[in-house]
Amino acid sequence: MSSDHNFQPKIIGIICNWCCYGGADLCGVSRFQYPPHIRLIRVMCSARVDMLHIHRALSNGQDGVFVGGCHLCDCHYVTNGNFNAFSMVQVFRKLLKHVGIYPERLRIEWVSAGEGIRFANFMNEYSTELTKMGPIGKAEGIDAETLAFKFEAIKKIIPYIKLVLTQRLHVSERTEEAYHKFFNSEEFEKLFNELILDKLIKAQITILLQKKNLSTGEISASLGLTPSEVAKHMNDSSKQGLVRYDMNNKSYALA
Ligand code: FES
Repeated sequence: MSSDHNFQPKIIGIICNWCCYGGADLCGVSRFQYPPHIRLIRVMCSARVDMLHIHRALSNGQDGVFVGGCHLCDCHYVTNGNFNAFSMVQVFRKLLKHVGIYPERLRIEWVSAGEGIRFANFMNEYSTELTKMGPIGKAEGIDAETLAFKFEAIKKIIPYIKLVLTQRLHVSERTEEAYHKFFNSEEFEKLFNELILDKLIKAQITILLQKKNLSTGEISASLGLTPSEVAKHMNDSSKQGLVRYDMNNKSYALA
């Protein structure tokens, strides 16, 4: 929790033109109040929000990103793009959690054009939550250099995650219930660990080895992994020809 009483979170809201922006507009016309430190960006559909947008905002010091769309099944496009936005946010939140950043910094909500008060309530609630939480990185006890390292690793695997989202994390039934069920299931947890977490760790190791050669112990200390977990990743990476072991210095280097 933030001890800085003057702290005001920097928040970006990326919201769809047809519903959530209408709700924000109605909120303004109706003179419902919400904090002025929330900056809104209008996109045509919440499906337009890319992981890179969220990454860019958070890695550049925004304390929170709010994604707003039409209610599920009310998206104005035939593909019901807000389901894609929902999936993307679930995966990004999980990534944040795994690198030690509060996943609550990323939030997605549905607001119709007639729900000005609902929009104001979300903004007030979200702003209060982030104010209590504190500045990104500092609140989590992560220094600026480590935070940049974590975001660099996430950025490296974003193109891969986009592929995984369409191929392996695809929910066939476009209903709210089916999506909530899948993203809260053990199956999702297992797929996330197998497909994404593994790549995230390898990306982190690659970044570390770009700076200098490291031993298993040094990698394990840097990433908070056990030596056997690191050994498993290094074996995989060696088989793929990505790293090599230097017998003389007893350390790994990029191949
Ligand atoms: Fe609003 Fe797609 S048009 S979420």
